[in-house]
Amino acid sequence: MANPRARNRALAGITAVGLVMAVVAMTKAAEVTSFAEDIYPIIQIRCLSCHIPGGAGYEASGLDLRTYEGLMKGTRFGPMVVPGNVIESNLLTMIEGRAEIHMPFNKKLLTKCERLAFRRWVQQGAKDN
Ligand code: HEC
Repeated sequence: MANPRARNRALAGITAVGLVMAVVAMTKAAEVTSFAEDIYPIIQIRCLSCHIPGGAGYEASGLDLRTYEGLMKGTRFGPMVVPGNVIESNLLTMIEGRAEIHMPFNKKLLTKCERLAFRRWVQQGAKDN
């Protein structure tokens, strides 16, 4: 490329592609829902008071929300979270207020953002991440 203008244009093109790739990479990283950072803090504040041994939720259903393993084990009747399946995941039905009773039991629903975080986490495979 003897022509300096053509070379500048080529360089600008390469820089633009690099910038787009960096932005895409950053957006992707931000979209991943983390159990430890996004989900568990909600559980601690809104669910744990009842879903520990001795609590009303645990005693009635067997659902122990102290750990990821407890959450994935579900209730005495089976799993409440089916990785990747938002339809079969009864936990979503309960927190989204689509069942006769909702969770948190007899309390205000979670915020839209919090409900969406749970939904995304299930969609992304309900990982222990
Ligand atoms: C004030 C107490 C309380 C809080 C807070 C609470 N739960 Fe519960 N939870 C219960 C009780 C009681 C049951 C049993 C309800 C029943 O089957 O009649 C239950 C049952 C459940 C079940 C099983 C439903 C079924 O049909 O067996 C799920 C799933 C659940 N809770 C999820 C959650 C989640 C997620 C949160 C937090 C967002 C939460 N709960 C907060 C009391 C609570």
